[in-house]
Amino acid sequence: MSRTAGVIERHRDRLPFAPEDPVVTLGEGSTPLVLAERISELVGAEVHLKLEGLNPTGSFKDRGMTCAVSAAVREGAKAVICASTGNTAASAAAYAAKAGLRGVVIVPDGRIATGKLAQALMHGARVIALRGNFDKALELVRALADRHPIALVNSVNEFRVQGQKTASFEILDDLDGRIDALCIPVGNAGNITSYWKGFVEAGAAPRMLGFQAEGAAPLVHGHPIAEPETIASAIRIGNPARWEEAIDAMTASRGAIRAVSDPEILAAYRLLAASEGVFCEPASAAAVAGLLKYGADGAERVACVLTGHGLKDPDAALEQAGAVLPCEPQLRALERLVLE
Ligand code: F0G
Repeated sequence: MSRTAGVIERHRDRLPFAPEDPVVTLGEGSTPLVLAERISELVGAEVHLKLEGLNPTGSFKDRGMTCAVSAAVREGAKAVICASTGNTAASAAAYAAKAGLRGVVIVPDGRIATGKLAQALMHGARVIALRGNFDKALELVRALADRHPIALVNSVNEFRVQGQKTASFEILDDLDGRIDALCIPVGNAGNITSYWKGFVEAGAAPRMLGFQAEGAAPLVHGHPIAEPETIASAIRIGNPARWEEAIDAMTASRGAIRAVSDPEILAAYRLLAASEGVFCEPASAAAVAGLLKYGADGAERVACVLTGHGLKDPDAALEQAGAVLPCEPQLRALERLVLE
């Protein structure tokens, strides 16, 4: 198989697509799984990082989007729509562009990371900034898709889950089937649902350890949060669409869904970049923050899903990072700055 095959071609035997079906792909999937030496030491387990930020639009959403948009084309749709905290919007916009469909994305006004906004706009989607949060946007977009022939490509769309489950197959392949726990950030709960589905289909059962931001932790508290708040804008979600499935995944795998604070998320975010060479976005770092905070629950081998690339959110990075050093154009001045 071609090295650049996307997830439909690579996993067609486990996906609802026939060989003659249209495939809209950007070569998603097949992302690296990297051993995290420093974090392994800190946790006392073998910890691997699944670098989902290396997908074509910089997040795991592409795995599901290739399936959702391919199915939309198969069904004759002319437009796709989603509500999004940013990454789904960027991915939907890119795959819609590739398919020649209209893309419409609804995002919470002023609350999405700069890189994601730039992507959605560059791919030619109509970007609508809703004066409301993600939960409200999803509610409205579901009602809209019920009334009009527009394909809804949020993870309430079954094809999204189908595509995203392929990450589990890859992790099992890379680790020869032996993994004890999976750490994953949880927002709308589509991804934890998908990973668990993939593991079950492959006959594996690692503990699913999901992490929410403290200010946006409905699954931890057991009730929706009206005004979710966190620095990790991707998971600023108060009423996950796949609530039941997330709880099922947790229960069936003897896992847990727990909360991490913004300072804990940011500490993991900096640690990953500075000690592991991996730049992810804050929401992704929640998985590692949770592992560092709560430990591995006796697991010997753990994979953490780093869901999105750090370049998605340059503002968060620059707020956390050290300052740039200004320098006069003279050797002495430069020497001092370099060698000090
Ligand atoms: N990490 C990142 C970087 C995300 O963008 C998201 C969700 C999650 C984790 C959580 O995944 O929702 O399946 O539990 N982003 C969605 C969006 C909501 O609109 O881009 P989940």
